[in-house]
Amino acid sequence: AAGSLRFQLHALDKHARASTLYFPKRERINRKEPVAVPTPVFMPVGTKGTIKGMTYSQLSSDPSLSPPIILGNTYHLALDPGTSVLDSYAGLHNFSGWKGGMLTDSGGFQMVSLLKLAEITEAGVAFQSPYKKDNGKMILLKPEESIRTQVSIGADIMMQLDDVVSSVRCDDARFEEATYRTLRWLDRCLGAATDKEQNMFAIVQGGLDVTVGGLREVCLEGFRKRDSQIPGYAIGGLAGGEGKDEFWRVVKQCCSALPQNKPRYLMGVGYPLDLVVCTALGVDMYDCVYPTRTGRFGVALVDAISPGTMRLKGTEYAEDTRVVEEHCDCPCCLKGKGYSRAKLHMMLKSGEPVAAQALTAHNIAYMMRLTRGMRSAILEGKFEEYVRDFLKRFYPGGY
Ligand code: GUN
Ligand code: ZN
Repeated sequence: AAGSLRFQLHALDKHARASTLYFPKRERINRKEPVAVPTPVFMPVGTKGTIKGMTYSQLSSDPSLSPPIILGNTYHLALDPGTSVLDSYAGLHNFSGWKGGMLTDSGGFQMVSLLKLAEITEAGVAFQSPYKKDNGKMILLKPEESIRTQVSIGADIMMQLDDVVSSVRCDDARFEEATYRTLRWLDRCLGAATDKEQNMFAIVQGGLDVTVGGLREVCLEGFRKRDSQIPGYAIGGLAGGEGKDEFWRVVKQCCSALPQNKPRYLMGVGYPLDLVVCTALGVDMYDCVYPTRTGRFGVALVDAISPGTMRLKGTEYAEDTRVVEEHCDCPCCLKGKGYSRAKLHMMLKSGEPVAAQALTAHNIAYMMRLTRGMRSAILEGKFEEYVRDFLKRFYPGGY
């Protein structure tokens, strides 16, 4: 089979899936035991291999956190620390000390989303280095180059380089070009993926076109022909400002077309409501900066308030002695014994970094609880009830 991961599907409740991904032990990164990733799973984003504000020991020693897999970005890691440092450590795991699972995104999306100066051609993505030391130098990231860098990083899952276009700002011709180019780049990436202990996922593109014979179908059909070489699939090109109905339609189409026996990863999606809906449609894996970034800005994800967020900078919390969530066992709430909302409010006002850290932890714990809850419901065949309860809490006034 392609790649080294083992995928075990435990239960199917309508289209929702509970599964486990197993990554083998790996000599190169000094991993002595296999890593198990129960799904549905949310992968917190550590762009440069660090979840901002958190140490690995905080992340992995606290049972309320302990994400089984985190995400890093090839683009950032290629620039800093760069491949020669990564190679001298035999990969990011050794360099950083992280023992769990890791996935790296290929870099194309980050360049397109972060830099106005990126230019995409058949050769690859050209961009201007943001570093002063590079003096405005243009750098060309080819598909082969992206994979070579991801081999240096050594993550368990690598992503193909794809041609990402904004789902709301492009014309039909550009979507068509991007879809076929993504297929051509997949073949170039497959040729460059040399470490057989890693797993390279393909990324479905094709805009919002779900029609018969449309671009999403073209991409999916292209992948079917290469399925024996592909250990897992991602759905890309979404979460870019399109309407929810269009977004859900594409996810539904991709999930019905992708093989049952391989993992499915929806890229860049991390709102709790989207996780619940897309899990019902058959997605297994998610990532997004949202929970950690919004935590740093003083927003906690919560169940009891509609629609699911608590903005602790608000003056209504200045004298609120309760913790963020009484039942939460994260390092911020400590089951009712942690920081009060008033204390968090005060710390946020003065820019005390511990508040950002505590809320980052809470929001990761929230996402872990959400995915664990979905998994149990799917295993018990009660996912429909779970979705109904979630929506009722989210929109108590009806939806
Ligand atoms: N992150 C969010 N969306 C995408 C996408 O379409 N492609 C890649 N490579 N990364 C993403
Ligand atoms: Zn908490």
